Amino acid sequence: NGELVPWNGETTEIYSPVCIRTENGLQRKLLGSIPNIGVKEAMEVLDASVKAYDNGFGEWPTMTVEGRIKCMQKFVYLMIKQRGLIIKLLMWEIGKTLTDSTKEFDRTVDYINQTIDALKDLDRESSRFQQAEGTIAQIRRAPLGVVLSMGPFNYPLNEIFTTLIPALIMGNTILFKLPKHGVLTHYPLLSAFKEAFPKGTVNTLYGKGSEIITPIMESGKVNVLAFIGSSKVANGLKKLHPKVNRLRAILSLDAKNAAIVTKNADVDVAVTECLLGSLSFNGQRCTALKLIFVQKEIAEEFTQKLSKAVSEMKPGLPWEKDVKITPLPETNKPSYLKECIDDAEAKGAKVLNENGGFTDESFVFPAVVYPVNSDMKLYHEEQFGPVIPVVPFENIDEPVEYQVNASHGMQVSIFSEDPLEVSKLIDSFVNLVSRVNINCQAQRGPDVFPFTGRKDSAEGTLSVFDALRSFSIRSLVAAKATDSNKN
Ligand code: G3H
Repeated sequence: NGELVPWNGETTEIYSPVCIRTENGLQRKLLGSIPNIGVKEAMEVLDASVKAYDNGFGEWPTMTVEGRIKCMQKFVYLMIKQRGLIIKLLMWEIGKTLTDSTKEFDRTVDYINQTIDALKDLDRESSRFQQAEGTIAQIRRAPLGVVLSMGPFNYPLNEIFTTLIPALIMGNTILFKLPKHGVLTHYPLLSAFKEAFPKGTVNTLYGKGSEIITPIMESGKVNVLAFIGSSKVANGLKKLHPKVNRLRAILSLDAKNAAIVTKNADVDVAVTECLLGSLSFNGQRCTALKLIFVQKEIAEEFTQKLSKAVSEMKPGLPWEKDVKITPLPETNKPSYLKECIDDAEAKGAKVLNENGGFTDESFVFPAVVYPVNSDMKLYHEEQFGPVIPVVPFENIDEPVEYQVNASHGMQVSIFSEDPLEVSKLIDSFVNLVSRVNINCQAQRGPDVFPFTGRKDSAEGTLSVFDALRSFSIRSLVAAKATDSNKN
């Protein structure tokens, strides 16, 4: 609620994936600690958001579009002042390379500016009168209430802001649960939220999710759940709400995107794009390619070239030059990935590249695993790490079958130079996933394009334009179309 509250309670220590050498071997470096708030404080934070919304009568939901834009512009100005520090925190806290951390920051500023422009367009559209069947109406965009925004560690700034910023600018008040990894990245922004927006408009909280989020959802005071993470957690959260049919959910969830490399592919293009798609930010992206289907005729050439390219990737620390593979923030990740690779090896697959799967305290060197089949964990689990499972196939129906049976449906990438084959594959996949990529990797951007998924992959749509609609409702002011009303 715009106040700094002294804290004497429990804290959580935040460690970097970057390790230091100690007497006891490699250890993750301690970066700092933050208050671990309890249920009582969490409920106070919730009440601050409810009070600031005030049934739609609060200062923020009643502010003009122009006023809200001015506040947002001030926030962007204050955010840019912290650019260097935030980029540094992204590198230290989640291990993202300097290039990618810089991109994440700049992409977020662009996203906010594009959102401001999109709101101006939406507002122009809303102020036009429409007439049909003797009724004249103005269709306004109105906020929904209190939005609980929670997001992942892989884009702690950018992806969380793809829900938080549109929700905020549409006049909702925000309850922002800071991510487990990437929490310090937001530290420089807390005072910017306070300075730019009316008191209580954006409230942040950090603590054990299972403890503090449960009573918040059970209170029934959250109107919109904006969550990016696993479908299991999202479903659990929704169920806690006493009137779940009144809860709007904007969710971006599970994925395990496939690439299909047919015998008609340009192998070099497929290798370059599959490498990028599988290993950017160590494979920790929901849009990462997580299963590469390759037609048997070209499987040997493809896997050899892919393994060579992977071996040439430089591991190192986020700020070092040309580094592509960096340490992983999740402490259990190296052992979990090793388990997945061991499982595949025990069932007949091999790691093709030198050092593939090598792990230490926080590093995992990427592994190309071949041939993977449906008996293996790597075929089914998203694994969110630098492992590339390659599945040989004979008939093109096999990868289609995979997608038909999958519980998720985010993206696929098709690699083929045969237009007829590409066209048939587009037809097969377009109703199974929400984006089909041709001869290129899977990805979320450009941010003006709709971003969603089918089955357990998403609910609602994000993008610069769609998100403004997702976090608002159309309210009509209607009258009979008499001559005096028209005037
Ligand atoms: O983790 C999921 C992100 O939405 C991926 O975004 O494709 O821009 O890396 P990206």
